Amino acid sequence: MSTSPLPGEQSRSVRPAARLRGEPRLPGDKSISHRALIMAALADGRSLIVGAGDGRDVQATAGIVAALGASVERVREDGLNVDYRVVSPGVDGLHEAEGVLDCRNSGTSLRLCSGVLAGLPFFSVLDGDVSLRSRPVARIIEPLRSMGAALYARRSDSLPPLVVVGRSPLRAIDFETRVPSAQVKSAILLAGLRAEGRTTVRETVATRDHTERMLRSRGIEVRREPATSSGGGSVAWTLEGGARLSPLDERVPADPSAAAFWLVAGAIHPDAELTLRGVGVNPTRRAAIDFLVRMGAHIEETPAGGVAAAAGRPASEAGEPLADLTVRSSELSAIDLGPAEVAAAIDEIPIICLAATQARGETTIRGAGELRNKESDRIAGIAAGLTALGARIAVSGDDITITGPTPLVGAATETLDDHRLAMTFAVAGLIARGATTIDLAESAAVSYPSFFVELERLRA
Ligand code: S3P
Repeated sequence: MSTSPLPGEQSRSVRPAARLRGEPRLPGDKSISHRALIMAALADGRSLIVGAGDGRDVQATAGIVAALGASVERVREDGLNVDYRVVSPGVDGLHEAEGVLDCRNSGTSLRLCSGVLAGLPFFSVLDGDVSLRSRPVARIIEPLRSMGAALYARRSDSLPPLVVVGRSPLRAIDFETRVPSAQVKSAILLAGLRAEGRTTVRETVATRDHTERMLRSRGIEVRREPATSSGGGSVAWTLEGGARLSPLDERVPADPSAAAFWLVAGAIHPDAELTLRGVGVNPTRRAAIDFLVRMGAHIEETPAGGVAAAAGRPASEAGEPLADLTVRSSELSAIDLGPAEVAAAIDEIPIICLAATQARGETTIRGAGELRNKESDRIAGIAAGLTALGARIAVSGDDITITGPTPLVGAATETLDDHRLAMTFAVAGLIARGATTIDLAESAAVSYPSFFVELERLRA
């Protein structure tokens, strides 16, 4: 066994792998799992959600939905994914929770649930762990207040705990998001369901569109138009309030953000071939795959309909396109990413930084400031961890420069209790000389409960 918890700590030590082979199991997409639970609670009746990711974040949303009065039953679980049966009294039957709604580490639970609670005429408090209490909430307070809900938060309405006193009906708004954020967009659209009239959200950089797709698949008309105010790549999303959602019977695609760890592992390891099945390749989520291909990674993509269909899976799940991906050892070259590209791969930038340490030339990642607002300050965390492993990485303001290729040498890394940093440093450990220690490695279970089990299984 090359990965072992150190006694008395939540640390793990990862040793280099001679070869990497196999098919790591992937969690159901975290973003889609949250939305499925929330929409099941808004729909009247019985919903089935198959293959939701069983990370702690999605469990937090399940707990919130249950506290508001939906019955949430785990009908099957395997330590990585879970099938949920949700029976809801419908949005008007949801009730005030008796206690604080615990988002734990999950910014998505916090923002998306705020949008729902804004349209429910009772008192709610959303709170979570130390990290969650540092996540900005002014970005949702502003639009939800202008829709007529009352929201209050710590530090002059900037940090959780967040109090929401909802109102029904809400006022429809036409709002342009200030930072590219699917969470903010989704909160406004979910609130818009409870508003009188037409709600529009404009974004200058397109973000993941799972909420829009899932609303459409629930019978809600959501229109997408080029936004008039800003032009460029911007889009406007519009829906009419008052429509009712139909219950769900959906399978959740495999998470492309989890797949990214293995795509990078396979590309940077000198003797690797890994296959990932049924991965969601929604155009608003697949940027990291495309960046790796641009860097020279050998990634073979078989759209569903090919291997996936032969394996008995449908061509799309939850209105989302799927593919099987095979990655092989690759010679990578540097890449330049600007702010819109950062937004498109916001959760994958840490693992792309690891890929860049093995790429020939100077990789630049510009305008990555939003990474500081995630589960940790990911710019500081990735720079410290990769520097400890011997990489050449420099940070200037919100820009990151990485010069490669650099052989990595095992060292102690600090995850800041952030799941994506823990998994990035563990993948680095597969190619670093000697042992790489990952503190608070348990945090991987926030999005990928079996991550370290999969990592061990891939050693051929
Ligand atoms: C998410 C959106 C992103 C992402 C998060 C999940 C979502 O956050 O970082 O992990 O499910 O909508 P922002 O939209 O706030 O950037």
